[in-house]
Amino acid sequence: MMKVFSLSLFILFSLLGSAQKNCPIIPQPLAATPSSDQFKLDRHSSIKVSDPKLYGIANYLSAEIKKNASIELATQPSKAGSLVSLVLSANKTQNSTSAEAYSIDMNKGSIIVAASSEAGLYNGITSLLQLVSLAENKGGTLMLDCWQIKDAPGYGWRGLMLDESRHFFGLEKLKSLIDWMAFYKLNRFHWHLTDEPGWRMEVKKYPKLTTIGGIGNFSDSTAPARYYTQDQIRELVAYAAERHIMVIPEIDMPGHATAANRAYPEFSGGGSKAHPEFTFNPGKEGTYSYLTDILKETASLFPASMIHLGGDEVNFGNQQWPLIPAVKTLMAEKKMKDLREVELYFMQRMADTLYKMNNKLLAWDEMADVELPRDKTIIMWWRHDKPEQFIKAMEKGYTTVACPRIPFYFDFVQDSSHKQGRKWQKAFAPLESVYAFDLSKFNLTAEKQKLVAGIQANIWTETMQNEQRLDYMLFPRIAGLAEAAWRNNNTPKDYGLFKQRLQGHLGLYANAGLYYFDPSAPASKLEPLGPKK
Ligand code: ACM
Repeated sequence: MMKVFSLSLFILFSLLGSAQKNCPIIPQPLAATPSSDQFKLDRHSSIKVSDPKLYGIANYLSAEIKKNASIELATQPSKAGSLVSLVLSANKTQNSTSAEAYSIDMNKGSIIVAASSEAGLYNGITSLLQLVSLAENKGGTLMLDCWQIKDAPGYGWRGLMLDESRHFFGLEKLKSLIDWMAFYKLNRFHWHLTDEPGWRMEVKKYPKLTTIGGIGNFSDSTAPARYYTQDQIRELVAYAAERHIMVIPEIDMPGHATAANRAYPEFSGGGSKAHPEFTFNPGKEGTYSYLTDILKETASLFPASMIHLGGDEVNFGNQQWPLIPAVKTLMAEKKMKDLREVELYFMQRMADTLYKMNNKLLAWDEMADVELPRDKTIIMWWRHDKPEQFIKAMEKGYTTVACPRIPFYFDFVQDSSHKQGRKWQKAFAPLESVYAFDLSKFNLTAEKQKLVAGIQANIWTETMQNEQRLDYMLFPRIAGLAEAAWRNNNTPKDYGLFKQRLQGHLGLYANAGLYYFDPSAPASKLEPLGPKK
């Protein structure tokens, strides 16, 4: 009781404090109290760890400070220099129930970052790195304003999805994206690797998936094959893991299979005029063993032990199913009355395949209709116009991630004047809606709230044929996403203060050479052009 009371007082004083001073960290910490002290960071400063197993994280901090502020910290603590201490201790964050909680205590001579887990400590380091990156560097010396911070996330799943089937960005851009995700405490990278235009993951058993399926993109169906080798995938997964980011691959099925079907047409279930060869053939046994082989290789590359199987928009191209003799036989044998039942049967079988590999299944909200084990299934609610799918998923006991198109599809424009990108009637996805998003309008019961794993934004890339456009659509909405995903309904939001904090972050985007959108000056840069078609 005493602890709850003292934390409440701490938060109260922090809120009073923040009326005078806006802590520049994004997402805003749960509680941040300023003091009048300043901490001097220069080449005499050093890092100390409470446990040898923290050397890795200390080296990471030191490398990032060097990268962001060109200051190389001393390896040996000196009496004259200031000290950054990294402390792993169960006691430090006992007020928080989150394993990802952390605290930062700063004064003139020391900074103590403390947490009860390495994930928590990493979050603390991220906050510290923001303070370092945003401070003015005077000839190799940073004078950091001191803060007392206690922080913990509202959601454990803070995700970003990138579609590389429609346009391919490559390993270097991905690493930069992972760095920015880490900077904003986003911790799930959902990698959409297969779809209509191209297949982007090397599969050793089926090399044509990439040599043929990898050809083309949304702008140019004849563009040379682009894809990730298995070694590159391992490299990215390791890079992300070092930043406490889990990578979840998506192998979309039974729809959005066009690129795979170009490579291995024997497993195609046909398509429609608008979406030719869009589906896998659900009536053919060989399809299930083919996809099982692909999933085995996928699972071996991604230690997340979860794979997204899509399951979306199958009706875009399953019109030929009733004409396939093997599908007819399947429907007769299993007494299926329509194609939706065939689709759900297909997903149930592929889900079982995943569970046998000790992987969890992720799927889009169409699959909230399938009966699957609750503890092994995660549903992503994307259709903002179908909130009933979100509720249904939770009523069935599935863990859910909220990524409704509005405001979390970043292929939607962010300003009414923008012409490149989507709108839904007149609705789009401005920064303010991303920042302000919460689930309060659903009045979820405590039981349902527990099933919400978190929040995610999805970058579909039909209109993003180059890095400049990707940057423009992602920055600064990534900062708004971080606020929506880190905080929940318990802390009040203030868009005006957020925009003040954002100002410094826009400077960091400029330094990094990103072609970001400035919401305060929408006309200050040309909107990059998307593909012609
Ligand atoms: C989706 O946007 N088709 C998940």
